[in-house]
Amino acid sequence: MGAMALRDLVHRFVHPVLAARALGRGRPRLVTVGGERVALWRDADGIPRAVADACPHRNAPLSLGRVRADGRLACRYHGWNFDGEGRGACPSQPTLKCHARAFHVTERDGYLWLASDASRAPVPLPTFPGCQLAASFSTRFEAPVHITLDNFTEDEHFPYVHALLGWGEDDWPRVSYEAQLHADYTEATYVGPQRPSASLPLIGVRAGDLFVNHFTTRFDPLRTVYTSHWECPETRVRRPVESRTVVFMVPESEGVTMFHTFVYAKVDPRSGYARIEPLLKVLAHVIVRGEWWMDARWVKNLAHTAPTLHGLRLGRFDKTLIRNRRLLRTHYFGDAPAPGESARDLTTADAPA
Ligand code: FES
Ligand SMILES: [Fe+2]
Repeated sequence: MGAMALRDLVHRFVHPVLAARALGRGRPRLVTVGGERVALWRDADGIPRAVADACPHRNAPLSLGRVRADGRLACRYHGWNFDGEGRGACPSQPTLKCHARAFHVTERDGYLWLASDASRAPVPLPTFPGCQLAASFSTRFEAPVHITLDNFTEDEHFPYVHALLGWGEDDWPRVSYEAQLHADYTEATYVGPQRPSASLPLIGVRAGDLFVNHFTTRFDPLRTVYTSHWECPETRVRRPVESRTVVFMVPESEGVTMFHTFVYAKVDPRSGYARIEPLLKVLAHVIVRGEWWMDARWVKNLAHTAPTLHGLRLGRFDKTLIRNRRLLRTHYFGDAPAPGESARDLTTADAPA
């Protein structure tokens, strides 16, 4: 996974890059995808625009520029200015022709999605009947994308890195795990006792409940969808609040990964909780954001480790890890399969010893 592969990402897929509310009218913003720096701004009609963050004149960052009253982005250095197609004008030399490389931006689901051109649309967010968007937010991980992918596709770290969701160490005998490895995506399901918590009863979780977490990871672009609920261990009756969380893991550089997260909450309309739905959305936001914060604080300790699995002693919860790492390289970064890694390897199950 070299720098070359990272640099292609912005052309290979459409990525969420910034909350739409974070891009105001006056000032441009810098976003980085796969090492590619891009300046975003809103034109005179409020439409989000994007050009490469290097002025074609002498490379000044256009994200340090200003948005003119006519909606063009002007460079801070010598005032050359650009429209959303990248067509440039030079105030001191009106006959000069210049062009900045333009990108396409879509505003959808409260986020700005960056594409190399207008022919590409963002992937639809998964639907969840009866479910509403509770929150969306971005988190910075100071770790390479493969480290964040490994962490976000296993729950073995729950008792140690987290303090709220899931089980404690003594509960391992009661945790069940199932993984499915597909040719271009992976799935995993964990079911285990919810550890005691002061806040979860607020959303209808009861002592002794099981926490059920199913997730699917896809690579076009890289994202994991978590569907979770709590249920009574005897009757399997579900508690009234369920959630679905979509995480896009967007590598900014070799050592930094941005997460753009969409949290959906579903509240049983027949339950008393339906009346406090706005409060539940806030709670869902706080819970997920808090869990991500704990992950971010931990995974930076692994940031320096080699991207190879060679020499690691993987355990049973790492079943998806091997396939995910491979799909990250072949399907997300677009690398050719490594020597000896045939197309057939991609469809056979990898099970750790
Ligand atoms: S570097 Fe941008 S106008 Fe000169
Ligand atoms: Fe975690």
